[in-house]
Order: sequence, then structure tokens, then C-alpha cells
Amino acid sequence: EYLRDFRGISQLERELERRLVLKRVTIVPGDSDLDPTVKKELARATAQYLQGILQAGMTLAVTGGTTLAEVAESLPPSRDPWPITVVPARGGLGEEVELQANSVAARIAQRLGAQYRLLHIPDDLGEEAVLALQAEPRIRELLDQIKRADVLLHGIGSAEEMARRRGLPAETVRLLRKRRAVGEAFGFYFDREGRVVYTTSSVGIRQEDVPQITHVVAVGGGRSKAEASLSVISTGGQDVFITDEGAARTLLEIL
Ligand code: F6P
Repeated sequence: EYLRDFRGISQLERELERRLVLKRVTIVPGDSDLDPTVKKELARATAQYLQGILQAGMTLAVTGGTTLAEVAESLPPSRDPWPITVVPARGGLGEEVELQANSVAARIAQRLGAQYRLLHIPDDLGEEAVLALQAEPRIRELLDQIKRADVLLHGIGSAEEMARRRGLPAETVRLLRKRRAVGEAFGFYFDREGRVVYTTSSVGIRQEDVPQITHVVAVGGGRSKAEASLSVISTGGQDVFITDEGAARTLLEIL
């Protein structure tokens, strides 16, 4: 607490809430680009926030990535079952297994004592096969549940880094550059103004489902994510932003 006040972090939180028009901004001290322990603090703050808003009967949709994987790790294991369902927000996005939304959803559910339902749709299916799978009653029902989630907890990535990490073809990378993509969240790439400029072919949450979700919580830190965070928040559907000082201070400079 002392460190927070000393660095004026509460003030920074209120300022970002006002300028980004968000219900809540939480900032942990430090910069996760420079110090890996800051990412752990970021995850811990997110885990705490999550436990505070979840209620029996809710559906929680989560994305993948290293930050979300860390959130799962920082949740204290629950002793009692909790009637909550955890689902992946999107199908495969070309991440390694441990970083996939399915894995993160299962891990978070285990920690919370919740149930989980997973989306088993490979990344590399053709459009026709995806349509056929989506028509399957059980998958369709799960996709409906995902869209009607009460809480969406998602990571933020810089467009460039995510394109690289997912091994997108050079042609797509060029397209992303041409369209000035700077941020990525749940499979959508956004420009600085928050316009969708590219969409991955995976199934699950769509940009138009987001405004209906009561708690949309974006988490991401490190100054390298400042512009990406701005682009994702500019879409207008976000409620809460959990970040670190590195991203927050850089964000204020570019706002
Ligand atoms: O691929 C899933 C995802 O949540 C992306 O939507 C996001 O850009 C990225 O992971 C964040 O990853 P990390 O937390 O590892 O920076």
C-alpha cells in the first residue's frame, strides 16, 4: 500500500478510469516487460478481482495466453465445489497447448472448484467443416453459453507479437500492417481506434457479443502492451482493465 501511494498509483488508476471511460482500472507497481515478478502480481490482482465478482450460477469465459495461465496459477485451490461454469471464450487460436483457452479454462475451473466445458474444434479446419461442427447440437449449445457468459476475462496482445507467436503467414502479417493493426484480443485484431481490422477463423465470442456481457475484464501489462491496450479498450465493450505501471504510464503518454 505504501509503495502504491508513494508512486501515486491510486491517482493514476482514477485518471485512466476517467480518460478511458472504464468502471475500474487496477494497476500493480512495476513493469512486467522488465521484471517477471510484476506479471505474477498482475495475475494475483486479477485472481483476487475475479473471486470477488463471481457468484453461484455464473458462466466465466476465459482466453489463453501466458498472463491468463498465470492467473490460473495464482488462484488459491478451493476446498468446496462452486456452481460456476468456466468455458473458453474462443476455440483454438494457434497457441501452444498449455496456453490455449481450453487449458486455461480447465485449470481455472479446477482451482475454483467449478465445472468446465471445453470447445474441441481444431484451428485448421476449413470453413465448411467449421459450419458443420457448429451445427452439432452440443457444440451449438456450448457456443450459446459462451456468448451469454456473465464474465469475460481476456488477455491483450500486441498485434505484431501475436501474429509472430501464432505463425501467421507473411501475407497476413503484411495485411495487418497495412491496416495498422496494433492490438489483439480473443482472436480479433484492432487498429488504434478500436476497429476490427482482421479476424481469425476460430469459433466462439464475437466482437458484437461483448457489450451484452456484464463483466468484461481485460488484463495485460508491460509497456509493450500500452498501444495494444488502448486499441482493445477503444472498442468500447470493456468494463475493467487490470494492468501494471509500465503499461499505465505509457498509455497516458500516448492518449
Ligand atoms: O491467444 C490468446 C490470447 O489471450 C490473445 O488473445 C492475447 O493477445 C494473448 O493471448 C495474450 O498473451 P500473453 O498473456 O501471453 O501476453
